[in-house]
Amino acid sequence: MSRGFCDAGFRVVAGFDSWTPAVETYRKNFRHDCHDLDLYRAEAVDVVAACKPDIIFGGPPCQDYSPAVARNGERAETKERAGLTVRFAEIVRAVRPSLFVLENVPAIKGSYALARARVIFRRAGYGLSGVVLDACYCGVPQHRRRFFLIGRLEARHGFLDGFLRRGLAATPMTVRDYLPDIGTDRYHSHPMRNDLRCVFPIDEPAPTMRCENRPVPPHARKHGVRALTTMERALIQTFPTGFRFSGSAKEQEKLIGNAVPVNLARHVASAVLEYETWRIQPLRKRQRDGQSMTATKRRDATRAAIERAIKRMHERGESVNVSGVAKAARVTRQALYKCYPDIVEILRRP
Ligand SMILES: C[S@@+](CC[C@H](N)C(=O)[O-])C[C@H]1O[C@@H](n2cnc3c(N)ncnc32)[C@H](O)[C@@H]1O
Repeated sequence: MSRGFCDAGFRVVAGFDSWTPAVETYRKNFRHDCHDLDLYRAEAVDVVAACKPDIIFGGPPCQDYSPAVARNGERAETKERAGLTVRFAEIVRAVRPSLFVLENVPAIKGSYALARARVIFRRAGYGLSGVVLDACYCGVPQHRRRFFLIGRLEARHGFLDGFLRRGLAATPMTVRDYLPDIGTDRYHSHPMRNDLRCVFPIDEPAPTMRCENRPVPPHARKHGVRALTTMERALIQTFPTGFRFSGSAKEQEKLIGNAVPVNLARHVASAVLEYETWRIQPLRKRQRDGQSMTATKRRDATRAAIERAIKRMHERGESVNVSGVAKAARVTRQALYKCYPDIVEILRRP
């Protein structure tokens, strides 16, 4: 995540982890320090506070929320690792940076840990924006859906939603888009479950890079495909080519699979910076921008109402004309023409 924040223009002052390969990898690639520290320890709050951060960002371990580790329908949330989400919230509450960014798998949304963390953040005065992003719309050639909870002191809830949506690509990024010289048209990637496919063409986003890179099993070898190399997996996570990893081969694969893709982190960090730039603009300009964002929301709602009305009328076999649609959607004809300048054309379609 730090690489993405640096790329967006943040000056990162410190990293924290308690796993040696992660700490060593961090130290190899950044000039600022990475503290080898168990964040559960009481002194962690003082160590983080001493950095005087404007923003704290992090991805507490996600294994316990992941469907892959749910047993008999129950999540193993009582384990210590799930508690790191709450610990993250406690550290934020104690240090009170202006902003925080918490990353995790989408399954965290239904967890007690996140509910508890949200209460801590709200009581500490943070406005919250929560969003699930698929990395392949954020400059990463990989389907990787991740939940981000962003908080800011003295902001309203949902403050970042519009900024996060702005830079999203219209189409997903494929492996070929990002690595045109990969030298193969298809590759093997170990599936999450045995019944899922394991051979992927490079003309689509890669599946989520996992924490292990197993060899191609005999039944898949007949397709003549190879596995991705460690370096290719790192590139698909959008690490820069010169990024160096520490630890054994297994540990390196885990570091790669654990990571928030660099470009995904950069997307979120850029949205935060855009918001902060907007926030410090003179009030009059902010109000103008705010008004135009509200106008966009209002137009979206009107369009949705019109579309629902047309669908309903079609279903009932009613004749669909402009005044009928306006009446059914409870909008003026003027508003209807404004949202759909080509409404007559649309209604003529079978
Ligand atoms: C999902 S990974 C985070 C990935 C990282 N933020 C990134 O963007 O690449 C979770 C990390 O939390 C670390 N961790 C787990 N328990 C911890 C603790 N008690 N104190 C500090 N770090 C911990 C793990 O070693 C692991 O590197």
